[in-house]
Amino acid sequence: MSMRIVRPTAYGGPEVLTVAEVPLPEPATGEALIRVKAAGVNPIDWKLYSGAFHDIDDEHTDAAGVDAAALPQLGLECAGIDTTTGDEVIVYPVTAAYADYVVAPKSSLIPKPSSISWAEAGALMLTGLTAAHALHAAGVHEGDTVLIHNGSGGVGLMAVQLATARGATVVATASERNFDVLRDLGATPVAYGPGLLDRVRAAAPGGVTAALDLIGTEEALDTSLALVTDRDRIASINGGPRRAKEGIKVLGYGPGEDAGAEFRAAARHDLAAKAGAGHLRVIVAGTFGLDQAAEAHRAGLTGHTPGKLVLVP
Ligand SMILES: NC(=O)c1ccc[n+]([C@@H]2O[C@H](COP(=O)([O-])OP(=O)(O)OC[C@H]3O[C@@H](n4cnc5c(N)ncnc54)[C@H](OP(=O)(O)O)[C@@H]3O)[C@@H](O)[C@H]2O)c1
Repeated sequence: MSMRIVRPTAYGGPEVLTVAEVPLPEPATGEALIRVKAAGVNPIDWKLYSGAFHDIDDEHTDAAGVDAAALPQLGLECAGIDTTTGDEVIVYPVTAAYADYVVAPKSSLIPKPSSISWAEAGALMLTGLTAAHALHAAGVHEGDTVLIHNGSGGVGLMAVQLATARGATVVATASERNFDVLRDLGATPVAYGPGLLDRVRAAAPGGVTAALDLIGTEEALDTSLALVTDRDRIASINGGPRRAKEGIKVLGYGPGEDAGAEFRAAARHDLAAKAGAGHLRVIVAGTFGLDQAAEAHRAGLTGHTPGKLVLVP
């Protein structure tokens, strides 16, 4: 039996993505074969095959010259049906979920709450756990006023909801067209761009006690440093090497960064429970078939998608 899988044929932009027909993978002991119903799309997906993480020259963007086995597998979160038990599950962590089927360790399976859609379930974990980790790293608690840069992105929408739920006051940056959704989630929106520091001061006259940089711009870093006195209470998930030099919490997979694997694994059930109870919304910006993966990535690469993009095989 065969299945479809989305793969890059080279390093490059979305034009290198193709849908290949391959044999169904076989689960080993301790693994499960999942029929994928929805796979979340994340910026890491296009970064992986962009070449940004690899020391390659321009010639490698030519499909003919590249060893396909060395190219990354796409799809780091999904939801689907365990083909052995028939259980509906969220699968995280996982790789190669941009496909009809994926093999995952059984330890990656979490029961899917029946009250949320496949798209919501498939797009819950990567951004939700990153947001939970960032709030944990910055020690955000009841009574805090937290500044969240990029409140309208996949991670930001989760962080805003998780922060307000724990009793923090949230000021979140976004462009004006996303202000209403942020207000709905309980945050005070402010426009990013020149003059941000003054606008945040006006929105939080009592001061800002913690900040999450979820965009990685110099503006986000400078504003956070200007407003938050304790650098342990600034967490960043993206950006350049200056972050480490400034002594803030840097979360991620690079050298010296905190990947938070243990924290994130433990937080999965809580996240699923919150989503199942209707206390955490996954805002889906768009769904795409596997053969539209390149289109989904082009939408994501604009940097202005309000919420999650999802592939629905
Ligand atoms: N370290 C980790 O563990 C980790 C995990 C997940 C993600 N990340 C990284 O974190 C970043 C955000 O991820 P994401 O999934 O939230 O991305 P995303 O959903 O693609 O972010 C899109 C949002 O960014 C907003 N935005 C664009 N320019 C902005 C600016 N200058 N200031 C503030 N907001 C701006 C856009 O708002 P407008 O449309 O209103 O402009 C849009 O809503 C990515 O670089 C991703 O790779 C890191």
